[in-house]
Amino acid sequence: MTARPLPGAPAAEALLAETAARAARLPNPPHLVMVRLGEDPASVSYVRGKDRKAREVGLSSTVHALPETTSQAELLDLIARLNADDAVNGILVQLPLPAHVSEQAVLHAIDPRKDVDGFHPLNVGELWAGRPALRPCTPAGILYLLDHYGLAIAGQRAVVVGRSHIVGRPLAALLLERDATVTIAHSRTRDLGAVTREADLLLVAVGRAHLITPEMVKPGATVIDVGINRVPGEGGGKAHLTGDVHPDVAEVAGALTPVPGGVGPMTIAQLLANTASAAEMQAS
Ligand code: GUN
Repeated sequence: MTARPLPGAPAAEALLAETAARAARLPNPPHLVMVRLGEDPASVSYVRGKDRKAREVGLSSTVHALPETTSQAELLDLIARLNADDAVNGILVQLPLPAHVSEQAVLHAIDPRKDVDGFHPLNVGELWAGRPALRPCTPAGILYLLDHYGLAIAGQRAVVVGRSHIVGRPLAALLLERDATVTIAHSRTRDLGAVTREADLLLVAVGRAHLITPEMVKPGATVIDVGINRVPGEGGGKAHLTGDVHPDVAEVAGALTPVPGGVGPMTIAQLLANTASAAEMQAS
């Protein structure tokens, strides 16, 4: 068997089109402001991609590219000004931050109504309470992708591998909200393969290349690979990106997201959808 591929692009295009239509109904284009510190190449590239897509769907986008040496007080001062500015609907501070800045202090400082990442503790609490709130982009984008391809969630045995605050935990909360039976596995899980083999829906967000091998997957399962790992080319060849799921899993799984080009595009599309949601909430 070869798994059905689940490319992100068609699902992301559908979500972007919905967002463009929502943006057009608002009196002003939803305005996303992104802040990054330093020149980490991955962060520079992510923020550039989000900025470009935002404009494509008719949003306004502003990027504050600050020096790595920006103090925590200066960053908090900028956030306070963005919170107070009615012309700003969504605020995203790109992670990771330099070591001298407390991620917690920054995430707490963002107005929860403008928190398009869904990382503020108020929004985290609302998510686990099953109430409406801005939802973290990668997990919400994954649910959109599953729905787009008509893959069942309710009643499914879902195993999330990884317990990060950005992906694993909120993803588990969203799956639970959609009536999946959810297990969270992690680096201390004993006999990981025995747990993952139970999954009808296996979602992997660990950041370890090829952690999931074919014998760890139930035949016919849907596998969502959130990992993006840069691995050196063989024999000094060009580095390339690969997922947390071994490519041979395609011989066992029923459906599988590619890396790159699977979950990645969903994160950006969901961020822009969240920015439209924030603008709608603030307008009402
Ligand atoms: N860095 C990696 N992923 C994310 C994300 O979803 N949001 C922010 N703010 N930073 C990130």
